[in-house]
Amino acid sequence: MVNIPQPHLPAGLPDPAALAAMASSLFQALPGQAAPGAQFPANMAPPGSPLSSPAGFGPGVPGTPIPQGQIPGTNLLPSSPSQVLNLGNRAPALLPEAQAGNGVPDKLLSAVPGYDPRVGGVLQGVPEASGSPFYFVAEKLGPPQGAPSSLDALSSQPFQPPAVPTASVPKAPPVPKSTPAFYFVDAVTLPNGHVTPATPGAREVPAYQGGAHPAFDVHGVRRDFPILAEKVHGKPLVWFDNAATTHKPQSVIDRIAYFYEHENSNIHRAAHDLAARATDAYEGARERVRKFINAPDVNEVIFVRGTTEAINLVAKSWGGQHVGEGDEIIVSHLEHHANIVPWQQLAAAKGAKLRVIPVDDSGQVLLDEYRKLLNDRTKIVAVTQVSNALGTVVPVKEIVELAHRAGAKALVDGAQSISHMRVDVQDIGADFFVFSGHKVFGPTGIGVVWGKREVLEDMPPWQGGGNMIADVTFEKTVFQPIPNKFEAGTGNIADAVGLGAAIDYVNKVGIENIARYEHELVVYGMKALGAIPGVRLIGTAADKASVMSFVLAGYSTEEVGKALNEEGIAVRTGHHCAQPILRRMGVETTVRPSVAFYNTFTEIDQMVAVVKRLASARRNG
Ligand code: ALA
Repeated sequence: MVNIPQPHLPAGLPDPAALAAMASSLFQALPGQAAPGAQFPANMAPPGSPLSSPAGFGPGVPGTPIPQGQIPGTNLLPSSPSQVLNLGNRAPALLPEAQAGNGVPDKLLSAVPGYDPRVGGVLQGVPEASGSPFYFVAEKLGPPQGAPSSLDALSSQPFQPPAVPTASVPKAPPVPKSTPAFYFVDAVTLPNGHVTPATPGAREVPAYQGGAHPAFDVHGVRRDFPILAEKVHGKPLVWFDNAATTHKPQSVIDRIAYFYEHENSNIHRAAHDLAARATDAYEGARERVRKFINAPDVNEVIFVRGTTEAINLVAKSWGGQHVGEGDEIIVSHLEHHANIVPWQQLAAAKGAKLRVIPVDDSGQVLLDEYRKLLNDRTKIVAVTQVSNALGTVVPVKEIVELAHRAGAKALVDGAQSISHMRVDVQDIGADFFVFSGHKVFGPTGIGVVWGKREVLEDMPPWQGGGNMIADVTFEKTVFQPIPNKFEAGTGNIADAVGLGAAIDYVNKVGIENIARYEHELVVYGMKALGAIPGVRLIGTAADKASVMSFVLAGYSTEEVGKALNEEGIAVRTGHHCAQPILRRMGVETTVRPSVAFYNTFTEIDQMVAVVKRLASARRNG
């Protein structure tokens, strides 16, 4: 026994034993408390502990024993590790009150007036002050009355807050066939002779398609992005650096502010209203992501910091478990460093081999060469859906199918595709799909790993800590089911909520509208840039999204970037974290304009004018 020296106490005060007795009786008098020092069996939660509650929440039944191996708060005794992993929000029949996001009972979530657990559209919308505008574009968009008089007025109309609720939305007037369609160009013959097909029917003004979404109003949309009103060097900002990051609509900015003003709390851990609000908002964002990528199960959506962390998670966790000596990992020549380095590190650690799908001179992957790389040592194929340096749209569905036929898993890097095209993870069929929130008009510091349930459940956690555990003793830890198993510690709650708002915004505009409009911007820009003497387009695949990389003879890429910046035009110059593909194309760096749906044909003209000026200055000088 250790002898603890007794402190010297001034005369007149009770001795330590008397003080301890007083404290003990006071403590006992507290509701639901037992005296300090009261002994409970090792398998019994102290009275009052949430662990002794039948549902795991609220005051418990004093002294309720927790059978060994039971997950606290569940009253369930796992009979196998997989059962352990299946508890929580995947066992609704067994846990009727613990389905809502990681152990917060629906009852608690629902206790907050106006809050609909996880789904609540109301929650994710920024509450409207009376008279405040909607930030997303009106439902009833179509061309303004009268023919557009400028390139960018193609489908625009003055921005108006929509009537709320939009019970009966009047249809946009049909577009007269005679409306000039000169903004939409025909197929482009690129300098290498390749013909880039234009969208079928591109000569028709795609104003109102009669589909799920009306065409969007580019000027209305632009007003939703406050930063687009910035001036740089006295000129209106032209943001052509969307492959690096996208700007945020006011609704996303407001949603994050609203979170901090009204909901801020840690999630899942407290029996108070703000925790429930924060949890609702966070889980609501998870559901939005699920729906946006058409994942079958919301628990397959894991929040991480971004694409880089997402790929590292898969490489470290899945790769650490399934890749061994002599195994092979396939990536394509197009990959961003984030989809090369983690696999390289894994290969080095395991004695595995990294193999690379080559590309043709346009920057498209060579599927026949890929087929030759596949064999029974191939463990995983990791490819980008859109190249960040060239804009190539990669046939990922086919790549995934071939990987699966070879018995390998497949990961698709969606960092550059998520904002430009409809992503359907079930249709793509990969085992993992990853992306970053900031590339899709959401905040930085939040991203997603989607994985197939059975694959995720078979993977060990990659980080340990709070939030991802069901029970911890010094001997053993029982992990939470997915997604919590992969979300150790306090996550980026506010920015996940912001990502949910960004998805709402994109949905309002309509991803098909975005894809169609951007395609026309890219076709237009490629044609215009490619026609400038001295310009070499880098990446001329038939199927491209957003990116129009080029070099200009007689200029360094930095010089071109600087000249553009002086006119307020922001592009990225450099290697774009994709050195292997640039070297394959014979360059070290490029100038990389990359468009989003808030860009305009006029902005492309402005950029082209600067490049033309540089080109002719060099020729004449
Ligand atoms: N991955 C980002 C880019 O391509 C940063 O610029």
